[in-house]
Amino acid sequence: MSPVPVVVRRATEADLREVGDLTARAYVTDGLVDPDHWYTAELRDAAARGRAATVLVAVPPDDGGRVLGTITIAPAGSPYAEVARADEVELRMLAVDPASRRQGVAEQLVHAALREAVGVGAHGVVLSTLDSMRSAHRLYDRLGFVARPERDWSDEITMRVLTWHPPEAPGPLVEAATWPPPRSVDVDGWRVGLSGGVTRRAGSTLALAPVADVPRAVDEVERLYREDEAPAVFRVGDPQTAPGLVDELDARGYTTAAVTDVLVRGLDGAPPVGSAAARDVAAPDVSVRVADAPDDAWLSVWLAGKGGARAPSRAVVTGAPALYLAATAADGTDVAVLRAAPVDDWVALSCLQVVPAARRSGLGRALTLQALALAGQRGARRAFLQVEAGNGAALRLYTALGFRPAHRYAYRVQPVPQADTGC
Ligand SMILES: CC(C)(COP(=O)(O)OP(=O)(O)OC[C@H]1O[C@@H](n2cnc3c(N)ncnc32)[C@H](O)[C@@H]1OP(=O)(O)O)[C@@H](O)C(=O)NCCC(=O)NCCS
Repeated sequence: MSPVPVVVRRATEADLREVGDLTARAYVTDGLVDPDHWYTAELRDAAARGRAATVLVAVPPDDGGRVLGTITIAPAGSPYAEVARADEVELRMLAVDPASRRQGVAEQLVHAALREAVGVGAHGVVLSTLDSMRSAHRLYDRLGFVARPERDWSDEITMRVLTWHPPEAPGPLVEAATWPPPRSVDVDGWRVGLSGGVTRRAGSTLALAPVADVPRAVDEVERLYREDEAPAVFRVGDPQTAPGLVDELDARGYTTAAVTDVLVRGLDGAPPVGSAAARDVAAPDVSVRVADAPDDAWLSVWLAGKGGARAPSRAVVTGAPALYLAATAADGTDVAVLRAAPVDDWVALSCLQVVPAARRSGLGRALTLQALALAGQRGARRAFLQVEAGNGAALRLYTALGFRPAHRYAYRVQPVPQADTGC
């Protein structure tokens, strides 16, 4: 089954009527509840849960307002949380339109809900199911939910409780070690990464220590970025992010850019190098070369997707030891690249780019599998990567390869001063 292309996003006011109708229809069609039962009215009342919880919808890529499925994410203590403990969020009312079943819509909804849960800092995700919800059970099992019989409960019927926990995240320092800035300066324990504006990952400040005077420290960071001729950028959302920093950046008008999910998987199941699964290249006339430095062809493919100048980019991309994988077509042109950087027992995958004309032919999957296999052979036990929360194609690819959300952070970017026109 190839999953139907859908986009999962937060429901808007305009979606809620259809969300409610769809949810009630899905439960009634499956015989889970009678049409005139009080719970059917609650399922239909998506407007109420939109006020008290986060409602996600799956829609076709062209959107157009048609809802294919929905799930509700209830914070602990909210009216829609039945069993969530303080550090958990609860998934409720997963429903897919009967006409859109067996196409992976529910799986994409649950994956998106797990990312949202991790994004709000939940340590666990909990849900209650009925024994009769068999197809949902297979899905939850596949995604790593575990039965918690000691938490089962009953109202009119017995509800089975399942929980999911995010994998351990590498943390900002491990992440930064795989993509260090060409120059960094310490400001009161904050690491100010200076890269002339080449990639936010290198050219951002890790403010991972409390400071006595936040405005003064931010002033000093801004001064350093002015010298570097780049806007000041802070990474926020880590448990260690300095208290008071986000309020200070809000007051200075910093925008939020690139909400980023850190995805993690173990390497135990990675296929051995050279195996058919590791190559898994759909186009048979594509070969993969691996080097420990990027050549010009590798950089060209990466930069075509990123924009930016070659010279500073080479310095940034080669800042830590790494393997550089490139897939070459029969005519000798490179069609896809990937970088794999080891640190401790991790490997960080980054820079995955497939040239637009070669997409959807299995290259992204093949290069990622090859990198995992190589990293496993060299001693890595787990892999992580960072992907923007809106990059649906990449999220689908990585999720299908077993990556799961471990953490979410965002960059805050200094506003560009408006030129004084004198009028
Ligand atoms: C994301 C990207 C690397 C995928 O490369 P690709 O070679 O097209 O991916 P594959 O052909 O290996 O696809 C594997 C799976 O990923 C998912 N996928 C890939 N592209 C997708 C898209 N546009 N929409 C939805 N799902 C997609 C599908 O599940 C696909 O499996 P399927 O074809 O059997 O349905 C490519 O779109 C790209 O280069 N994007 C720009 C750079 C980027 O976003 N890099 C990732 C940075 S973290």
